[in-house]
Amino acid sequence: MNYASEDLINEHEGILYGLHILEKMIEMIKNQVNISIDELKEMVNFFKLFADKCHHGKEETMLFPEMEKAGIPKENGPIEQMLYEHTEGRKYIAIMDKDLQEGTISDAFTEAALQYINLLRSHINKENNILFPMGDRRIAMDTQKHLLQAFEKYEDDVMGKGTHEKFHDLLHNLGGKYLQE
Ligand SMILES: [Fe+2]
Ligand SMILES: [Fe+2]
Repeated sequence: MNYASEDLINEHEGILYGLHILEKMIEMIKNQVNISIDELKEMVNFFKLFADKCHHGKEETMLFPEMEKAGIPKENGPIEQMLYEHTEGRKYIAIMDKDLQEGTISDAFTEAALQYINLLRSHINKENNILFPMGDRRIAMDTQKHLLQAFEKYEDDVMGKGTHEKFHDLLHNLGGKYLQE
């Protein structure tokens, strides 16, 4: 990998796959099909830890600040919009989390999940096609290299070594279970 955005675009693929699984779970719940609460919890945990804490954390603490240094303004532009969307996403996760703690799946849960799915799909689309290409053009190649190294360290610090792989296994297993037609 040469650009910091490449690592994040790879993670977007995993997040999009996770959104597809969550969407299928919600569809089943709406159709009164019993699904495993534990598996739903694991998916919400994936979004909380992998998508938000780790992935959005890399963007907020490392990539976006480098973009600002490279001349992309934080206010009134794509960075501000992306930060706002991260905050919105956290609100939806908190709603889902609260329901799962109480062991229920209410309409508020399914509503929050659907909003979250829509939000993140359009968010990823904007990063991949608008913001990240801007950063690729402006951030110097040696900084890109440093960012990639810092991302790796951040992942281990925030999620623990090997957690990334565990999440990929989770997506693989639940994808096989929920997405087979
Ligand atoms: Fe983001
Ligand atoms: Fe992202």
